[in-house]
Amino acid sequence: MPQIARSVESVPHSRNRELAEIAMSMDGVLRLYFGESNLPTPEFIKQAAQRAMADGYTFYTENAGLPSLRRGIAEAYARLQNVELDPAREIVITASGVQALNVGIRCVLDPGDEALVLTPAWPNGSSIVNMANAVVKQVPHLLAGDRYTVDFDALEAAVTPRTRLLLYTSPSNPLGWVATENDQDRLLGFARRYGLWLIADEVYDRLYYAGARLGEPVPSILRKVRRDDAVIVVHSFSKSYCMTGWRVGYLVAREDLAAKATQLNEFIISHAPSFAQKAAEAALADGEEELSAMLERLMVNRDLCLNALRKMPGITIPEPDGAFYLFPRIEGLTDSFAFCRQLLTETRVGLAPGVAFGKGGEGSVRICYAAERSILEPAMERLGRFVQSGVSAAAR
Ligand SMILES: Cc1ncc(COP(=O)(O)O)c(C=O)c1O
Repeated sequence: MPQIARSVESVPHSRNRELAEIAMSMDGVLRLYFGESNLPTPEFIKQAAQRAMADGYTFYTENAGLPSLRRGIAEAYARLQNVELDPAREIVITASGVQALNVGIRCVLDPGDEALVLTPAWPNGSSIVNMANAVVKQVPHLLAGDRYTVDFDALEAAVTPRTRLLLYTSPSNPLGWVATENDQDRLLGFARRYGLWLIADEVYDRLYYAGARLGEPVPSILRKVRRDDAVIVVHSFSKSYCMTGWRVGYLVAREDLAAKATQLNEFIISHAPSFAQKAAEAALADGEEELSAMLERLMVNRDLCLNALRKMPGITIPEPDGAFYLFPRIEGLTDSFAFCRQLLTETRVGLAPGVAFGKGGEGSVRICYAAERSILEPAMERLGRFVQSGVSAAAR
C-alpha cells in the first residue's frame, strides 16, 4: 500500500494542540493555552474588509501582495523603526506569519542542511525545517538570574559546515524575552561569520512593555542590517491587530530572497486573501489607538499574573518584556504535559505544556495572558491552589 512520505511522517505532533483537543471536549475551561487575544478584531478593520469586498477586492492579486499594502508596510517601518525599505523589492505579503516562516525557510534550506533554532520557541519553526527535509538543532536560551540570554557558546558548538540558518524569535513566544541590541549585534555577527541566513521572527514587536513609551515597538534587527545581509524578518497582522483568523503576514528580506519567495508563493497559496490585505492596510494606517488600549490592558494582565505567580511556592518567573506570555518554571516538574492535563481535568484551567516548545521548555508551563481579567483571576487562583497542594505525583 502506498505510504505517507517518511519526511512528513517524522514531523512531530504539536503537544499543545494535543492538550487543547482534550480541553475543547470539556465545558467551562479557562482557556489560556492558545496564543491569541480574545478581543475581537477592531470594528474599523472589519469595515475596511467589507468596503474592500464591495469595491471588488475579490479577485487575485500580485503574488507579492497588493502594492498599496507593501507601501503601507514600508511607511510603517519608516515611521516606527526609522528603516527605509523598498516596497517593490524587499517586502512580500504572505497568508500569515507562519506562511512567511514557511516560504522563508523553504527558500534557504536544501535537504540535509542544518538549522539552528533558539528555544524554547513556538514549535512551528522547527517543524517547518523538518518539512524541508532539513535537520533542526535546538539551542536553548539560558536563564541567568531573572533574565534569559542567548547561549553563544552553545551556538558556536552547534554550528557545522552543513549549517545554513539561524532562527530566533524576539519578542519570544513563549518566554517574552526580547533580544537586546547587544544580542542582535552578536546574532548578526555570528550569522555573517558563518555565512548563515538569519531569520528573525518579529511578529510580537508591537507588544512591548519596556520601551520609553507604551506603543513603541521593539527595535527591529532591520535597523542594523545592510541591504546585502542574508536576513529575513517574519511578521504578521495576527497579534498586534487581533487578526489571527484573517491570515495576513509578510516577510522583509534581501531582494533576491524576496523575489524567490514571491515566485514560490504562486505554488503555495498564490497570495493572501485580497480583501484581508485591504483590511491589513487599514490596520496599519489607523490601528494605533486600539493598539495602545490593548497594550494597557495587556500590561495590567501581565502584572496581575506575575504577582499571583510570585506568591506561589517553587515558581521561578523572569519578568517578560514583550509578547503576551508567561513561562513560569515549576520546581521539580519533569512532565509538563502530565501537569497540564491534571490541572485541566481537576481545575478546568488550560495551560500549554512547556515541553511543546522544544529544548529547555520541559519543567515550565506557558500562560497566555491576553484574556479578560474575569478569566485570568480565577485561573491564577486555581493554579495557585493546585501548585500549593503539591501538584501531581505523575508530573514530578
Ligand atoms: C512566534 C510566532 N511566530 C509566528 C506566528 C504566526 O502567526 P500567524 O500565522 O497567525 O500570523 C506565531 C503565532 O502564534 C508565533 O507565536
